[in-house]
Amino acid sequence: MCGIVAAAASSNIVSVLIEGLKKLEYRGYDSAGLAVIGSQQIERVRSVGRVAELEKGAAGTQSSTGIAHTRWATHGAPCERNAHPHVSGHIAVVHNGIIENHEALRTELSAQGYIFTSDTDTESIAHLIESVQKTEPDLFKAVQQATRRLIGAYAIAVIDQRHPGKVIVAREGSPLLLGVGEAGHYAASDASALLQVTRNMVYLENGDIAELGANTLRIADAAGQAVERPVHVSELSAAAVELGEYQHYMQKEIFEQPQALGNTLEMIGGSKSSQPGIFGADAASILADVDSILILACGTSSHAGLTARYWLEAIAGVPCNVEIASEYRYRVSVPNPRQLIVVISQSGETADTLAALQHAKAKGQAKTLAICNVPESAIVRESALRFITRAGPEIGVASTKAFTTQLAALFLLTLVVAKVKGRLSEADEASYQEQLRHLPVAVNKVLALEPAIKAWAQRFANKSDALFLGRGRHYPIALEGALKLKEISYIHAEAYPAGELKHGPLALVDANMPVITVAPNDELLEKLKSNLQEVRARGGELYVFADGDSEIEGSEGVNIIKLPEHYGQLSPILHVIPLQLLSYHAALVKGTDVDKPRNLAKSVTVE
Ligand code: F6R
Repeated sequence: MCGIVAAAASSNIVSVLIEGLKKLEYRGYDSAGLAVIGSQQIERVRSVGRVAELEKGAAGTQSSTGIAHTRWATHGAPCERNAHPHVSGHIAVVHNGIIENHEALRTELSAQGYIFTSDTDTESIAHLIESVQKTEPDLFKAVQQATRRLIGAYAIAVIDQRHPGKVIVAREGSPLLLGVGEAGHYAASDASALLQVTRNMVYLENGDIAELGANTLRIADAAGQAVERPVHVSELSAAAVELGEYQHYMQKEIFEQPQALGNTLEMIGGSKSSQPGIFGADAASILADVDSILILACGTSSHAGLTARYWLEAIAGVPCNVEIASEYRYRVSVPNPRQLIVVISQSGETADTLAALQHAKAKGQAKTLAICNVPESAIVRESALRFITRAGPEIGVASTKAFTTQLAALFLLTLVVAKVKGRLSEADEASYQEQLRHLPVAVNKVLALEPAIKAWAQRFANKSDALFLGRGRHYPIALEGALKLKEISYIHAEAYPAGELKHGPLALVDANMPVITVAPNDELLEKLKSNLQEVRARGGELYVFADGDSEIEGSEGVNIIKLPEHYGQLSPILHVIPLQLLSYHAALVKGTDVDKPRNLAKSVTVE
């Protein structure tokens, strides 16, 4: 989604803006632009495509104050005319989010004589601020007044040629943080863009407006009162967001999974007990009274939830439902104050998941838990309990290490709930803890299968469709495999519980249809084998991921890769890894943009 970088410093900031935008490229975008305070007037450069193009266009531009943006098209096609910044008179604005009343504003401002040159909702913000300035020349106050008229979600940054050396930023709903540097103040959509200049970050609250100068910073809250927001020292290292020896972020993140899991599970290192405290100080009292669980999430995070449902019901004995956040938030549902709402999100800023959480709270569901990879995100701040996965920054649009660390966190939740409910024996607890501790090693062994998986990817990269099958707790893993394949290789893929085949999808199976099957050596393997026969009998080519001890052999049309160990309840965490590698290599063969697949954004901050 759109990315913002802004700077007011004592020296030239154009390279800071460009480097910041490069760090935000992972969020997904289709055009980019920047505007700076020039010697005579605002200087603006915009381009369609990559930030590298913008960099060429901005060569020679110099200023100590400016704003920059990567745009992911919502209102209006991706073209230079619609790229940010948008200018009105002396001012320039960049914006992330959606202004819901932009049409009414456009009509009102057009009637005042403003000429719109783009199709965007953002341009109405620029003209609105310019119009307010006619009666309120103070830029800070003008932005304050203008934002009160905006309905929707936004983060904005504004410069004014008549107020050199200042950037005004404001946020409501969309993420924006400030960087406090030695010789300047900065703003960005996420911390990775600012690590080049500072580690000292200030997280703005909804409704905050801030004025950034080279040596000054002031913030006012939604009520217009001056406030101080704490400075956090970011733990992100600049190296964590570099590619290093890897060709793509997705590849790097797949191979970082042993480390990411080790970090996420660190707190169970020496101890044998599953303590509620790992979910927050109030977890023991909140969980004791819980009678059911509702998991809300989108995309890959929802697949983590679907997997956890099998664990929570089988191990903890607690009824669990999983719902897509964008559906739940608009559905008339029956609230249950004793139900635990679990929201899962890598970014913690996904608009639908955040809105679903707020919707649940508004209906009186106060028992909320966020499982999230970004500690200061909106979803974490709005939840009563939290568990921070320690996957490190995930840059590739296709989620990989965030998913497996979410699964690890959800398994810990299962153990804690099972223990609180008196359903976990000491022996089982110790055995599960041991399996968790061994996970990084087990994942490493699966990663070593890459050459065989790569060879498979060559063979079906020219296909236009693929079917994924799984059963039980591996059905959500099949869903995740299909999502990975379609989003980065653009091969159409569907996932089904294998038992559903004969109720419809079997009609699709012929020699051109690769059928990828997740077939661990669990209680459903024999049933699954019968389903595979159904595919083979129709000429379908099978690609089966089995376990080392599975009695399942390859034959004509049946290709088998065996994972080294059978991992019981935790097996989904291992079985998703070959599917990630398969998608990655299929995408490489097809030559797609693996880290930035078409039409997709990393952080979906609009609904
Ligand atoms: C798929 C993917 C998306 C996200 C979804 C939710 O690879 O990354 O489906 O999982 O947009 O994002 P978060 O987890 O940030 O809420």
